[in-house]
Amino acid sequence: MRTQVGIIGGGPAGLLLALKLARSGIESIVVERRARDYVLSRIRAGVLEWGTVEQLRNASVGARMDREGLVHDGCTIYAHGQSVHVDFRQLVSKSVMVYGQTEITKDLYDELDASGIQVLHDAEAVSLAGLETCSPSIGFRHRGASKCIDCEFVAGCDGFYGPSRQAIPRSERREFEKIYPFGWLGLLSETAPVSEELIYSGHERGFALCSMRNPSLSRYYLQVPLDDDAANWSDDDFWNELKLRLPVEAAERLETGPSIEKSIAPLRSFVTEPMSWGRLHLCGDAAHIVPPTGAKGLNLAASDVYYLHNALRDYYRRGDLAGLESYSSTALARVWHAMRFSWWMTAMLHKFSERSNFDDRIRKSDFQYVANSEIGRLMLAENYTGLPYWRR
Ligand code: FAD
Ligand code: DHB
Repeated sequence: MRTQVGIIGGGPAGLLLALKLARSGIESIVVERRARDYVLSRIRAGVLEWGTVEQLRNASVGARMDREGLVHDGCTIYAHGQSVHVDFRQLVSKSVMVYGQTEITKDLYDELDASGIQVLHDAEAVSLAGLETCSPSIGFRHRGASKCIDCEFVAGCDGFYGPSRQAIPRSERREFEKIYPFGWLGLLSETAPVSEELIYSGHERGFALCSMRNPSLSRYYLQVPLDDDAANWSDDDFWNELKLRLPVEAAERLETGPSIEKSIAPLRSFVTEPMSWGRLHLCGDAAHIVPPTGAKGLNLAASDVYYLHNALRDYYRRGDLAGLESYSSTALARVWHAMRFSWWMTAMLHKFSERSNFDDRIRKSDFQYVANSEIGRLMLAENYTGLPYWRR
């Protein structure tokens, strides 16, 4: 098999990149380790920055999102007994869209199928070769046969555990990591959301988040110890603990019901530098992970795709290599802003058992700055709704 861009990973980064490249007349093939049903069963992110929304629309894959997604003009941050409303529209004239990653992935698959772009599922033993040459390749096993895709560029969109990042020699990679001593227990239920907007709660019992997928489907999260197991939590346990961590008015109106899904995700901050090596370019979770508090994981994958698509388009249209050469530094500049913001939101709103009383006062002061200063709320709103896609 031969194509222009070989894409490893059929998550949001790989699928969006394939579609954008096709819209620019550039061929690609996507190689995905899992079955499509498995990819579509993963429940992950829910909040889209406006830049992500615009990209989906520009790739003509935003119609269902525009019909079914919920535009949110603000959110509530609750801590130390005080609720603060952050009005995105008033502060930064922007909004976010609440639309699940599962739905985006489905829309992307449908559009790729309609455009005749190949996504090879159930690919095993994926490996990369020739990355420092002009003709790299992707090897794998597919339905019992050995296959190879010869390409001109490889996009590593295979998430945190995929092989792409590891294909960059260890001596050429620098990794930055922070592991948090807790995870998030997520629950999905067919109940009406407790509030029209998201509530982020930094309660002394631990963090809680109230989110949603649509007016009759709610998504809630609780901070839990890293070694906890979702099986330890009955639905009643979850609802009772959530009520304790919410402002009283919200706890009183919380609608409870059976869970459809319950799982724990660990929290991590991670960046690898550089994001390019020879003809390999990393996108999304393959290169960086943020704790979910700032809702940035999926949005960073989308901004990487924005930069990489533009760079490949400039190369194929004009032979201009400048965008590819600066891809890593351009993408990383935005990544580090999201890292800082996600770390800051996480630190401000979570309970850390090993934290000193000094740290506790600093976090309280962080919250009070948001509560009492319009500039504090503006900083939060600007980062949460998404920083611009700067060009370098
Ligand atoms: P992924 O979505 O991970 O896609 C990578 C793809 O590569 C996968 O389909 C995988 O199967 C495939 N792959 C892996 N290895 C191989 C291989 N060897 N060969 C071929 N294919 C391979 N973000 C938020 O903003 N809010 C959240 O609430 C949130 N919750 C999350 C919960 C969990 C459990 C996880 C793991 C992530 C969560 N995230 C959340 C982060 C967000 O989902 C990711 O940032 C986003 O999925 C990144 O997209 P991606 O395409 O880069 O990576
Ligand atoms: C959701 C997840 C997040 O991490 C977040 O910050 C906001 C919303 C969600 O799954 O809806």
